[in-house]
Amino acid sequence: MTISGIRGFNDILPGEAAAWKRMEEEAERVFSSFGFFEIRLPVIEKTELFLRTIGETTDIVEKQMYSFLDRHGESLSLRPEGTAPLVRSYIEHKLYAANSVSRLFYKGPMFRYERPQKGRYRQFYQIGAEVLGEESPMVDAEALKMLSIFLSGLGIRGTSIEVNSLGCIECRPTYKEELKEFLNLKKESLCENCLGRTDKNPLRALDCKNPSCVEAVKEAPSIQGFLCAGCKGHFEGLKKGLDAFGVLFKINPKMVRGLDYYTRTTFEVLAKDGLGSQNAVAAGGRYDGLVKELGGPKTPCFGFAIGMERLAALFAEGSFASERAIVYCVFMGEEAEKKGFALAGGLREKGESVIVDYGRGALKDAFKRSDKAGARFTLVIGSDELREGVVTLKDMNTGAQEKVKEENLVSRLKALKGV
Ligand code: HAM
Repeated sequence: MTISGIRGFNDILPGEAAAWKRMEEEAERVFSSFGFFEIRLPVIEKTELFLRTIGETTDIVEKQMYSFLDRHGESLSLRPEGTAPLVRSYIEHKLYAANSVSRLFYKGPMFRYERPQKGRYRQFYQIGAEVLGEESPMVDAEALKMLSIFLSGLGIRGTSIEVNSLGCIECRPTYKEELKEFLNLKKESLCENCLGRTDKNPLRALDCKNPSCVEAVKEAPSIQGFLCAGCKGHFEGLKKGLDAFGVLFKINPKMVRGLDYYTRTTFEVLAKDGLGSQNAVAAGGRYDGLVKELGGPKTPCFGFAIGMERLAALFAEGSFASERAIVYCVFMGEEAEKKGFALAGGLREKGESVIVDYGRGALKDAFKRSDKAGARFTLVIGSDELREGVVTLKDMNTGAQEKVKEENLVSRLKALKGV
């Protein structure tokens, strides 16, 4: 009996991996140009970290965590996201002491026990970026500009940015009370999930996809009307900043997020086509209280994470087909092999991508294998070539075959590739 992979856990096959590499390289390039440094964090943390940051009444903590007891009975969890672990590390290593503002990015797998569907998996990859230590809304606007540059660098078009402000601990409680009152009047239309959390987490009802809840909250009071002077000013600053950076956006006063740590700015980047209902490609916002909440100094922060599977799905099919020009080498006989191995080694040192054929039998079968390997060139050394001190080189694109002197091989390959 064969063993299959786990539902919701995907293999990224060689044909797809080029797109993943491209996303990671582009993030590295663009984020570095904005002064961000990479941080690499463990995939497992103490469960308590997520309870205290993401929030006990969120879907993630209530239903989606991969938690287990280790051999000493300590509850650990696979990370469902990267912000809480990053803040934990930031405090633990006192990164705030070295720099008043830290700009960090990370990439890697996250784990949530969700119902798998297109664009929603149980292991998924994020690239995230966080700015810790700056309160100015210009930081939020600049990070969104950075994200837009990253997306257009990958050739991704047709996304839109929605922003909102969720207020702060000063003004949000009043809004929460008002919303609670409103939801209490709509009780009969709310789904069980929303009913259950009206008291502790009423904002989640604004985000519920249940058609009856969507209808029920249509007339709900908007948080925008409840923002205190500080939050209002911050939101105005964000809008001005986005205009200054030329980032187009839409205000969505109903946008709330599935994590409790947000204050003030929140946003989502939505794909117009191609992703169905899981259309948020990236999302994030401000979490000005989180560092302090976890025992660090008062540190305003802003960040976001990009969903790599969703982004990969937006690439035109085949747009990242292997760009490597493989040289596929066929050596006929022991003498040819001896010479050929040295030649192949030399080509590799010069940066060529070389595969040596170890199959036996007819030359035409070797050509078939070369074709299947996706090689751009097939290089043959047999007794004739040995005698003449040449190699036979076939350009698999054009079918043209020629004899090339060994010492001219590298420059000939370059010329054929047009580099
Ligand atoms: P999030 O909205 O939970 O935020 O996730 C960010 C992005 O990860 C989503 O927009 C989506 O593209 C992708 N994503 C989330 N869940 C899944 C899934 N099950 N399958 C595939 N893709 C998924 C956060 O995680 C925050 N930590 C973002 C942040 C950083 N906020 C501040 N800093």
